[in-house]
Amino acid sequence: MEYSQKVMEHFTDPHNVGKIEDADGVGEIGNAKCGDIMKMYLKIENDIIVDAKFNTYGCASAIATSSMATDLIKGQPVSEALKLTNKAVVEALDGLPPVKIHCSVLAEQAIKAALADYYTRQGIDPASKGIVIKDDDEIDACSV
Ligand code: FES
Repeated sequence: MEYSQKVMEHFTDPHNVGKIEDADGVGEIGNAKCGDIMKMYLKIENDIIVDAKFNTYGCASAIATSSMATDLIKGQPVSEALKLTNKAVVEALDGLPPVKIHCSVLAEQAIKAALADYYTRQGIDPASKGIVIKDDDEIDACSV
């Protein structure tokens, strides 16, 4: 399987790995079919994502997309992070092999789950912000 240079860089030396102890939003998403799990931590001040960290028990593509996705949302307003699609993350990585596109959905969904948690903690219904989290089994499995 051919991976782009950027995917290899983010896989071998992923950015933003870890945990934020006093995170303002935490989201966990799993892929029921391959069993991979991603946990996302966001620190948010005045509606700006000042820090993002993740832990992934997953494949190379899941790690590379989480690394790139957290890079992309850091310093961005929450409204922009909500618009981040897995497609944009894949493009930023110069592409993923077609059978690995599904892995990138984990990062997008984990960010949305963390933002849903951020709103819930403030008593705001995430649905009112247009956040819809897919069920685990709605996320297609990668062919591993
Ligand atoms: Fe499970 Fe890629 S996320 S194989």
